[in-house]
Amino acid sequence: MRRLAIIGGTGVYDALMLENAEVFSVTTRYGSALLKKGTYKEAEVYFLARHGAEHSIPPHKVNYRANIAALVKLDVTRIIATAAVGSLNAELPPGTMVLLEQFLDFTRSRESTFFTGGEAGVVHTDFTEPYCPGLNRALLSAAEKEGLTLKSGAVYVCTEGPRFETPAEIKMYKQLGADVVGMTNVPEVVLAREAGLCYSTVAMCTNFAAGISPEILTHEEVLEVMEENTGKINRLLAAVIDVVGTDNKCRCRELGGKILL
Ligand code: HPA
Repeated sequence: MRRLAIIGGTGVYDALMLENAEVFSVTTRYGSALLKKGTYKEAEVYFLARHGAEHSIPPHKVNYRANIAALVKLDVTRIIATAAVGSLNAELPPGTMVLLEQFLDFTRSRESTFFTGGEAGVVHTDFTEPYCPGLNRALLSAAEKEGLTLKSGAVYVCTEGPRFETPAEIKMYKQLGADVVGMTNVPEVVLAREAGLCYSTVAMCTNFAAGISPEILTHEEVLEVMEENTGKINRLLAAVIDVVGTDNKCRCRELGGKILL
């Protein structure tokens, strides 16, 4: 049976398409993860709410290592994540769905590797192509089939949060090449690759970033725009399950290493 995990970000707290869903937890050496397991169109689908079912975990406190290690323990090899992001690019207005292609890492307080030395090993993982090109192709083809507009090629900058950015920071990130900004993709994408998993992120632009938007930013506004657009994300997620695994042209597995569970 095909197997896939969905990590839901802000505004995506459930995988609505799942049949026979049950909630359970997996314990790893990094802590435990709460998941939902169900089936959809002959595929086994795991769902994990990154911030908890009631958005109670801030971005810098998410136990990213436990989440990824739990999925490895469950023999999941592919993850599609969602993320609410601010936009720095006039061509990506609020309501736009976009696939991430590269990242800039401005986080500072997170456990961001499985390879901590000693028994865990010292491994320097390749990040030339941080997001799985095969999964990205599957998402683009699912979007086309569903008649959904999905842009691609975004550079994501990950900030530490939980505060939003200053306009000066946004100006700097824009000069560095960022298209969208969020607080959670690093270290999630990093840990997934270290573990040799295929990982892609569907980002939803919920606002123009600080200083680009004339308004002040609030989490409520992010939630509101997510709510207006979760229908599109859910349709895309349901459609991609059909296509996932039909294109295995990626090197995610060989680029990853053996992690301690
Ligand atoms: N900044 C950081 N994270 C975000 C934003 C933003 O403007 N919007 C949604 N998530």
